[in-house]
Amino acid sequence: MERLQKVIAHAGVASRRKAEELIVEGKVKVNGKVVKELGVKVGPNDKVEVNGIPLEREEPVYFLLYKPRGVISAVHDDKGRKVVTDFFPEVTARIYPIGRLDYDTSGLLLLTNDGDFANLMMHPKNEVEKVYVAKVKGIMFRETVKKLEKGIKLEDGMTAPAKVKVLSTDKKKNTSIVQITIHEGKNRQVRRMLEAVGHPVLKLKREMYAFLTLQGLKPGESRELTPHEVKQLRVLATKVKK
Ligand code: URA
Repeated sequence: MERLQKVIAHAGVASRRKAEELIVEGKVKVNGKVVKELGVKVGPNDKVEVNGIPLEREEPVYFLLYKPRGVISAVHDDKGRKVVTDFFPEVTARIYPIGRLDYDTSGLLLLTNDGDFANLMMHPKNEVEKVYVAKVKGIMFRETVKKLEKGIKLEDGMTAPAKVKVLSTDKKKNTSIVQITIHEGKNRQVRRMLEAVGHPVLKLKREMYAFLTLQGLKPGESRELTPHEVKQLRVLATKVKK
């Protein structure tokens, strides 16, 4: 279920603000009845009309992008920097990223125009796992791995236990390559967790999102998710957790 003004905006009829005005002015009907309140939510089967014209709902679409570094996880940037939707010039649906990857982080990012799906994927209680590979300063030892696995105190609270593997270390360069798996999405979480244990991140890439990988894609390339993948993601996110 999504807010009426959002559904109208998504259909490309008006901006979110203009859609609110249309609702308040009594120009919007849901299932044949005028709705003037802004809180109303509608589902895919509700019939919405604006000025007597039925809304053409956008078909839901789902994409997987290999986000390069140096790109903003947004649909628009005031400073004119490259944004993730620039990689979909042929897509007319109003897609947006599900969560975000930092400007300097590369890797797997999902985009959709399906708000319910995006919320489902992002809600921390649904515990969708993301696998990151980080190049960090310093040689990471076992005690540090244990700390990360227990959970780290950040300024916005404790992190849930992470799965951590040191993939390699380079004593000469004093760096380590670390794989870290988390299911939360706090702002800059991986960078802050690693910084907190004394290993600032030099490079960060998201390699997996649930069971999805970047296989077959180069930075800047994307593909549509298959209906089966979308279904699997929904099932995974709605599974009751212990
Ligand atoms: N954690 C980070 O620090 N950055 C990202 O982009 C994603 C997770």
